[in-house]
Amino acid sequence: MAILEIKHVSKFFGGLAANSDVSFQLEQGMIMGLIGPNGAGKTTLFNCITGYYPPSRGEIVFDGRRMNGLQPNKVCKLGMVRTWQKVRPLAKMSVVDNVMVGALCHTNSLKKAREMAMEQIRVVRLEHRTDFNAGGLPIGERKKLEVARVLATQPKLLLLDEVMGGLNPAESEEVIQLILDIRRLGITQMVIEHDMKAIMRISDRIVVLNSGEKLAEGAPGEIVKNPEVVAAYLGSE
Ligand SMILES: Nc1ncnc2c1ncn2[C@@H]1O[C@H](COP(=O)(O)OP(=O)(O)OP(=O)(O)O)[C@@H](O)[C@H]1O
Ligand SMILES: [Mg+2]
Repeated sequence: MAILEIKHVSKFFGGLAANSDVSFQLEQGMIMGLIGPNGAGKTTLFNCITGYYPPSRGEIVFDGRRMNGLQPNKVCKLGMVRTWQKVRPLAKMSVVDNVMVGALCHTNSLKKAREMAMEQIRVVRLEHRTDFNAGGLPIGERKKLEVARVLATQPKLLLLDEVMGGLNPAESEEVIQLILDIRRLGITQMVIEHDMKAIMRISDRIVVLNSGEKLAEGAPGEIVKNPEVVAAYLGSE
């Protein structure tokens, strides 16, 4: 069953088509990789899907419901939440307080929110940092905190925008394992990433964007062999 349907979505900034007639579906429980060159429109599509920008044209259907025009907080309450390419934790607050902000999406009880936050802090393995100031975390742990915060909103669909960006290989490997753990929890994911080895390992399907348009869609093994994708993004290596 499709949990998310992107139907002919376009997003214009003045004369620039950041997204142009993009359509695809995301099946429940799968990991969809979203790749493409810098400026291809990947983050813009996340912004359209999660309510940060209204699409100029087209339709976003999540869990059978049309999402166009809904604000991000409403979208989040319905079960769809994204991380940010540039992580921005509430720097002066502790790790657990940051994650509680996500949990408070579904409860007004601070006690319950703290329990929910601790559960997700364990999922991302940041227990040793619970009371640490979020602003003082190294980048790898800030990325995990970002994932814990969105998990605490109890999403059905998680959109991850370059969670491995800026990480060393060991840290990236931890994030890969985390994404696979999240799949085991039954949460559907859409993942933007430039690390092709990582995206190949985790994705069930891949959509390639180029200059705002969908260039290709398929299984990872098909995508790496697609001559248009090789020419536009992957290169001959
Ligand atoms: N708010 C905005 N106003 C005007 N132009 C924008 C805005 N947001 C994005 N763009 C433009 O839309 C295009 C797509 O940008 P986007 O950030 O979606 O690309 P991306 O695929 O996420 O790239 P990257 O891999 O570098 O993160 C770019 O040309 C960008 O400059
Ligand atoms: Mg981006």
